[in-house]
Amino acid sequence: MSNKLQNSLAIGARIWYNLVIKTDARKTAFSAKGWDETMDKMFSLAKAYEKYFKIGAAVASHNIAGYSDVLSQHFNSITPENEMKYSETEPEEGKFTFDKADVIFGTARKMGIKVRAHAPVWHNQTGGWMYRDGDKPAPPELICERIAAHSKAICERYNNDVYAWDVVNEACRDDAPAADSGESTVYRNSEYFKLCGTKFIEAAFRAMDKNSPDAQLFYNDYNECVPEKRERIIALIQNLRDKGCRIDGFGMQQHYFAKPDYDELKRSIEAYSSLGLRIHITELDISLMATVNDGEKRLKPGDPGFREYISEVMKPTPEKLAEIGNIYTNLFEVYRSYSDVIDCVTTWGVADDYTWLDHFGTNEDMPKIKQYPLLFDEEHKPKPCVSELIGAAGK
Ligand code: GLA
Repeated sequence: MSNKLQNSLAIGARIWYNLVIKTDARKTAFSAKGWDETMDKMFSLAKAYEKYFKIGAAVASHNIAGYSDVLSQHFNSITPENEMKYSETEPEEGKFTFDKADVIFGTARKMGIKVRAHAPVWHNQTGGWMYRDGDKPAPPELICERIAAHSKAICERYNNDVYAWDVVNEACRDDAPAADSGESTVYRNSEYFKLCGTKFIEAAFRAMDKNSPDAQLFYNDYNECVPEKRERIIALIQNLRDKGCRIDGFGMQQHYFAKPDYDELKRSIEAYSSLGLRIHITELDISLMATVNDGEKRLKPGDPGFREYISEVMKPTPEKLAEIGNIYTNLFEVYRSYSDVIDCVTTWGVADDYTWLDHFGTNEDMPKIKQYPLLFDEEHKPKPCVSELIGAAGK
């Protein structure tokens, strides 16, 4: 079917939906399943949001083939979940392995879209070799040289297919103990930071600027709407700028484990964008936890009664699953209202059959709990909130 015809059908169906079906009668007259099947053929989240921002998803080399239908219908950006990290691309110094990343880039080429690449320099998923020089700790210059060599290799291979890089991930600390002062109140006390202060961040941005001059360069972090952490992130970005490094955008991860504070979200988008940065929502997903936890102190693994508590909190009742949809609807309303500064909204995963949250935090104290944090269900069908999001985009 031609694009034009498909668009006209989609617009017609959307008008029909808004006029006729989006009433309470819909709930009784149409089963969710019957409606979804119609919607499936007519609607595309990515097309509906073209005038606002890209719709992205994190994918893995082992699941991307199974998602080809939903990806090509609803998404126009993809991010390798792990395949561009050091542990996958350079497990030993100078030994590059691109097989897994190639699977993702190959699919992107077939889909005719570019990749949002993530995240070479991160304190996790990086081989210990980075921090060693024989039997001694690596000096800062060596770490910076290694970062530059890695940047050259990944850019030579993938530059034509990448529109944005998360150059450095999660280099800010979450809390600043009162005893600390200076830089250590801002930066995570990672191996990188212990060995070379902030030099590794500058080295990463300088190298990517040199090797990937046409792509946008991002710093990416979580808890980015918590006021104290936001200040640290801003300090990191300003520091980078003061050193003369190019940084084009900030990646707001948006993993939700507690109910969103929409006012802080707005304040954060405004604070980051007022630095002249483009904003990408980079890792959006909504834990069942976010339907009940409004930020009050909660039990942690190891606390007495934790297993019972967490099993209760994570019970996927119909109300909680509907609440996840409501949260998506509310978040997208905010994102749309800042579409002059937001260029991409990426969910951390495609559909509920594969989500990192099913494994996050699991240990002997933590029962394995199935989560439903994404926009598409375990059969890759759009959840009801996807119709809402598409409808809202057309208003
Ligand atoms: C962080 C990282 C991502 C990913 C997720 C969990 O947010 O930025 O690369 O590892 O954790 O899957």
